[in-house]
Amino acid sequence: MTNQPLVEIQSLSKSYGDVVALDDVSLSINENEFFALLGPSGCGKTTLLRVIAGFEEPDSGAVLLSGSNLLSLPPHKRPINLMFQSYALFPHLSVERNIAYGLQREKLPKEEIRARVDEVLGTVGLRDKAKSRPAQLSGGQRQRVALARAIVKRPRLLLLDEPLSALDRKVRAEMQLELKRLQHEVGITFVVVTHDQEEAMSMADRIAVMSLGQVLQIDTPIGMYQRPSSVFVADFIGTSNMFAGVAAIGGVDVPNLGLLPGKEAVPAVMGPAYLMVRPEDIQIVEGAGLLTGTVLETQFFGGASTIAVLVPGHDSPIVLTCQGSANVTRGAIAQLSWPAEKAVVLSR
Ligand SMILES: Nc1ncnc2c1ncn2[C@@H]1O[C@H](COP(=O)(O)OP(=O)(O)O)[C@@H](O)[C@H]1O
Ligand SMILES: [Mg+2]
Repeated sequence: MTNQPLVEIQSLSKSYGDVVALDDVSLSINENEFFALLGPSGCGKTTLLRVIAGFEEPDSGAVLLSGSNLLSLPPHKRPINLMFQSYALFPHLSVERNIAYGLQREKLPKEEIRARVDEVLGTVGLRDKAKSRPAQLSGGQRQRVALARAIVKRPRLLLLDEPLSALDRKVRAEMQLELKRLQHEVGITFVVVTHDQEEAMSMADRIAVMSLGQVLQIDTPIGMYQRPSSVFVADFIGTSNMFAGVAAIGGVDVPNLGLLPGKEAVPAVMGPAYLMVRPEDIQIVEGAGLLTGTVLETQFFGGASTIAVLVPGHDSPIVLTCQGSANVTRGAIAQLSWPAEKAVVLSR
């Protein structure tokens, strides 16, 4: 088969006493993919990685690697590397010896070790730090050493558990780009765990959103953003305006506000529903809009602005964004509109 996924996870479940850490999780990860597991703390992300790596045994389910059973292999026989949340570098070893450690344990020839360590130091841009100790490096550099140590063994699958969580904001943004570049360059399949939706959106080819041990949705970042399949996903990914009502033909019938237009869900949502509209899909229009409100405040963020509009009969202000500065001021009456196909009907 040519299009066989690299990893197939089939109905994995795992409980610790009363706590269900994984609840019938199924997903597949393609060769060379940058895959993100995204969800709030405690939803089972680390447990899933530990099962794949072999540090944890599931109660039921299967994991296949290139079509063959992975769970029967002990951890060290799996062509997989798990990079921990804390980098766990050896403080007394130099950068190059930290990276060489795993290869030495495999008893590879000295020359090969030297060549591979040098190559990977080049890949992560740390050749000039080869002789330094971890304590002499910045957080971002330590992160690179940990990455180098993980990829030097040339695993088929690299699992990264919250790899950037110890870094400050600016270094994090740099390392997000760096991780993506690195994944392209080394051609290893990456599975990155994060609880940060922006991080997942900016790096991953596809994302699985998890909650309470279950996978709620698997999609590309854009697909997930534009077509969330549940309120949880819509809320977790990006900002959204939610209108609670009852599903109707052409949208959602909202108390006090009437029928608000939206794209019909497939399969159709019946009964209690939300209409979800993203801030950038709402416009202030001349003439009659779908809703009328009063501008509560505007905020300017350099390239774009956020406008909050209070609509009588709706509890929370409606948030919209526009390019550049807002062309309305506080207190102005605003007519709001959006294209029906941009609004998503979700069951409630
Ligand atoms: N070794 C363990 N013993 C008992 N409970 C655990 C253990 N590992 C994880 N859990 C529980 O399983 C759930 C999922 O944990 P985890 O996979 O670490 O979540 P995440 O990585 O998404 O934060 C949590 O409720 C956690 O407390
Ligand atoms: Mg975790």
